[in-house]
Amino acid sequence: MAILLFFFFLLFDISRAIPVLDFSKLNGHERAKTLAHIANACEDWGFFHLVNHGIAKDLLERVKKVSTDFYKLEREENFKNSKVMKLLNETGDKKLENVDWEDIITLTDDNVNEWPSQTPGFKETFKEFRYELKKLAEKILEVLDENLGLPKGYIKKAFDGEEGENNAFFGTKVSHYPPCPNPKRVIGLRPHTDAGGLILLFQDDEVRGLQVWKDGEWIDVEPLKNTIVISIGDQIEVISNGRYKSAWHRVLSTTDSNRRSVASYYNPSHKATIAPAPQLMKETNEEWNQAYPKFVFGDYMSVYYQQKFHPKEPRFQAVSAI
Ligand SMILES: [Fe+2]
Repeated sequence: MAILLFFFFLLFDISRAIPVLDFSKLNGHERAKTLAHIANACEDWGFFHLVNHGIAKDLLERVKKVSTDFYKLEREENFKNSKVMKLLNETGDKKLENVDWEDIITLTDDNVNEWPSQTPGFKETFKEFRYELKKLAEKILEVLDENLGLPKGYIKKAFDGEEGENNAFFGTKVSHYPPCPNPKRVIGLRPHTDAGGLILLFQDDEVRGLQVWKDGEWIDVEPLKNTIVISIGDQIEVISNGRYKSAWHRVLSTTDSNRRSVASYYNPSHKATIAPAPQLMKETNEEWNQAYPKFVFGDYMSVYYQQKFHPKEPRFQAVSAI
């Protein structure tokens, strides 16, 4: 991994590349420095690569294999008849505005019976992967608690809601961005910020496409083998009272490659009430500087489904009016 990172830093201007953070260093004498780097990444980028995250390489290799097999066996043929393919073929030179060149399925604990069944090893591998990722997500949330000066478990508890332990939602989106005959006419995934809490993305080793908006330009999230890319969602922006920011990101389509992307999101329960942590609001002139409203996450999602690809600020206004 050290050699890979060396070449990575040689190839790219570090100041314009999303941070690469070593999770294992939280266990050693570099803990304080690593915590500070993670805090900076959450404040400045809302996105970072995590290396040495503790998920076994063998499991990651199996996830890649079953995802690719799954697309070939169970999705490729369908995509040829998809709505977006038809639109691209039937609309001349017109740029397509309201669609994405993307194939998706969503895995949750509640729809296991609907998970792909024809691809050998898919269910078993994804059950194991999701178990490991969820544990990792909870460890990262505790790091965020610590960096924000919140009691250990604060964010998880907020996400669980009043119904108690383990009610936070954990979903996994398995996406493919197949070769596109005309990437200028349709994007892989339109720009958006992530609605939920913490997003753990296992992206393609080789095929580029993901970009993050930073200081007025799109920055590539370079493929870096077996890292997990972390994205801060809107709910952590709210709980942190704006100290951490969810970042705009998008996926470009490409002509010659099929990009694989597995995004898992650790979100609040739909019934959970989300608000800025009182510890992160300062009292000024007898008023609290609360930068975000208090709302029920399910209400936020109702707004998000309508406005996902719009600026996020009006979403906060809309949900506070519910
Ligand atoms: Fe996203």
